[in-house]
Amino acid sequence: MPLPPSTITARLSAGGTLSAWSAGTGPALLCLHGFPLDHSMWQGQLAGLADRFRVIAPDLRGFGRSHGSPPAASLDDFVIDLCDLLDELAISDPVVLCGLSMGGYIAFRFAAIAPQRLKALVFCDTRAAADTAEVIANRHRMVEIVSKGGVATVADAMHDKLFAGTTFVAQSDVVEATRSVMINARPETVAAALLAMAARQDTTPLLAALPVPSLWLCGSDDRITPAAEMQANASLAPDSEFMEIADAGHMAPLEQPDRVNQAIARFLTSLEQR
Ligand code: MLT
Repeated sequence: MPLPPSTITARLSAGGTLSAWSAGTGPALLCLHGFPLDHSMWQGQLAGLADRFRVIAPDLRGFGRSHGSPPAASLDDFVIDLCDLLDELAISDPVVLCGLSMGGYIAFRFAAIAPQRLKALVFCDTRAAADTAEVIANRHRMVEIVSKGGVATVADAMHDKLFAGTTFVAQSDVVEATRSVMINARPETVAAALLAMAARQDTTPLLAALPVPSLWLCGSDDRITPAAEMQANASLAPDSEFMEIADAGHMAPLEQPDRVNQAIARFLTSLEQR
């Protein structure tokens, strides 16, 4: 039986610290949360995959218990922090990087900046495309709202779209806990992440050159990144596999941890057997 997660605090080269939760031993599976969340969305993976992997779930710069750094100027800053974390943990072997939505955007940048540190990629409920002009304008409006103390407004605008209908009914405790994480996010962190996401480039042209095998998982009821779009992204990547997660929305790993864990474990086992 794996031990419960332990916490790690890594010093960042940018200043400040990054907190991460780690459970299990074995090949490292580094899990990157979505916006504006924290490590707790990976609780099902920290509990359910730790018998075979070393699951590491950080609070990205400025989120949760990570603090003291200047706000991220771009998604690349999150990548630098993650390399600092791996160095602090003395993990030099390539890792499996798993990112949900904003975490997926960061994973695309990680693959471009530090491909030598990657063994495989798991994308959850994310997309390769950049924001449309309408989404960018909306993010700038959100930054204005956040600067006037409106983190809860931003959180509530997202919250209603995060989960499958069945999750709102059957897992209201999970829904409430997620809302609580979102409304407690620091305004400067939320604003920086909104601007970094708005400025990100379209990674679709890079998919054909993804340096490692990839698994693409999407909730069947994801209204933020529809499964059809993710499947189309996956089809452009070499050595890729797409799977829809039934009865899940945008937060598939949190809503259906067993289904997601099985998919990840099966994918990683198949890589080991090559
Ligand atoms: C997320 O879940 O991280 C967000 O939906 C990302 C975004 O706003 O594009």
